[in-house]
Amino acid sequence: MTLRSQPKLELHLHLEGAAPPAFIRGLAREKHEDIGGIFDERGHYSYTDFWHFLKVYEVATSVLRSPEDYRRLTLAVLEESAAQGVIYSETFLSPDFCGGRDLSAWRDYLAAIEDAAREAEATMGITLRAIVTPIRHFGPEKARETARCAAETAGRFVTGFGIAGDEKVLEPKDYLWSFDCAREAGLGITAHAGEWRGPDHIRATLRDLKPSRIGHGVRAIEDLALVDELAETGTVLEVCPGSNIALGLYPDWRKHPIGQLHHRGVKVTVSTDDPPFFHTTMTREWDRLADAFDWDQGVFDTLNRTALDAAFCDAETKAEIAKKLEPAR
Ligand code: ADE
Ligand code: ZN
Repeated sequence: MTLRSQPKLELHLHLEGAAPPAFIRGLAREKHEDIGGIFDERGHYSYTDFWHFLKVYEVATSVLRSPEDYRRLTLAVLEESAAQGVIYSETFLSPDFCGGRDLSAWRDYLAAIEDAAREAEATMGITLRAIVTPIRHFGPEKARETARCAAETAGRFVTGFGIAGDEKVLEPKDYLWSFDCAREAGLGITAHAGEWRGPDHIRATLRDLKPSRIGHGVRAIEDLALVDELAETGTVLEVCPGSNIALGLYPDWRKHPIGQLHHRGVKVTVSTDDPPFFHTTMTREWDRLADAFDWDQGVFDTLNRTALDAAFCDAETKAEIAKKLEPAR
């Protein structure tokens, strides 16, 4: 079995960030909009650093303006994921981009996305679940509206709540209400932290937002007491090594802390974050990790099992995914 065809689980994928550039260009053409400035001469997304990346992301996302656009986007993204062997994916969705946080519009977007997910499950064998995600730099008030959308639609498809965007803006406690609201609605909790800020921000996130998973979390490696704490509490890291390297957090794969974190007993999983922005795929992530850390099939099986245990879907869905993993074990 090739690396590409091996079954994989992915817990950290931004739906808009996974949009193939050709898909976004096609949509812009249909709407007679000029967003050419966000692409380089080869047609790839072009940005200078993380903060510019966030701006380019929002420009690309600005052409996605209807439930039908999101239905097509979801199919395009799942087709690419399924081609990389992904059998289960959790994607971040933001009511900010899907209907401007209006509950009724959000329901329409969700229905279209779920419709595409059902089609992909039937035709490509990939299961999708959603994590509703406020954008940190849009502020706490918008996050509260987003949390209300999440709480109203929590269920089999909407299974989690997270936070993305500029980690340097405000503090975790500023989003307390939103996270409490989502938790009370039964949603699984994750939060981006430890990507652009260090161990103290991870500690504050754990204390205030009480996530079972952390998006990235890699800068925990700067404080070994925190690494031990993560290992002891079983907090799961959604690590996206290719994203971190593309954004300049680490100079190369061998210097990425995922090897040490895994070695020290932290539960790590591997994801692509925003794959076309970072010129990566799940197969490439696995391939580079095997190369950099001598990881064998046993480690990749562990990554899959950790992801399955940490997934926010219901027990019935987990049992179905577990069955698909069995032949590979
Ligand atoms: N939104 C999309 N990708 C992101 C990342 N890597 N960090 C924070 N917010 C994001
Ligand atoms: Zn992310």
